[in-house]
Amino acid sequence: MSQPAIHALHGFLGSGKTTFARTLERDLPAIRFSSDEWMVMLYGQDPPEELFDIYRFRVLAVIRSCWTRALEVGVPVVLDEGFWTRFERDELRAEAAAQGAPLILYALDTPEAVARERIRRRNLEPGSLYITENTYDLFRSRFERLGPDETHVVIV
Ligand SMILES: Nc1ncnc2c1ncn2[C@@H]1O[C@H](COP(=O)(O)OP(=O)(O)OP(=O)(O)O)[C@@H](O)[C@H]1O
Ligand SMILES: [Mg+2]
Repeated sequence: MSQPAIHALHGFLGSGKTTFARTLERDLPAIRFSSDEWMVMLYGQDPPEELFDIYRFRVLAVIRSCWTRALEVGVPVVLDEGFWTRFERDELRAEAAAQGAPLILYALDTPEAVARERIRRRNLEPGSLYITENTYDLFRSRFERLGPDETHVVIV
């Protein structure tokens, strides 16, 4: 039996990761892990700024234990996470190698003005994680683009 794959989504806020992840989970099929949904379920739509990182850390730890287990029992996974830093991507590649799972990294790149407008509209929808203009600006500096050596599939 072939090893189930890890389908990981790289892209900044509002680039369309969750939308694409929903399509992918049905088409493959696979189990989708969207950390923002878990954040909202556990901590609400607008968690306090000073607690955001610790909440996110907890959510990612629980999600990791779920998706690694899914792979172990033969189920492919979609990781709708962003993987903004080279460090996170290196960790993911190491984890995939350790599990012997193929890793497909999808890159979503959307013009900033479009992404900001999408987030503004999404903020009005019930159940979405609230992202302010400030948060967008603050997080922008955390985003590290893929290097030339990082194999990926471009999603347009
Ligand atoms: N290709 C598209 N065309 C038009 N609207 C889109 C497209 N992809 C996503 N959207 C809309 O833009 C908004 C943001 O998309 P989505 O939530 O998928 O982005 P995201 O990358 O997951 O964002 P985040 O990083 O905040 O999780 C959503 O309201 C979605 O419906
Ligand atoms: Mg999302």
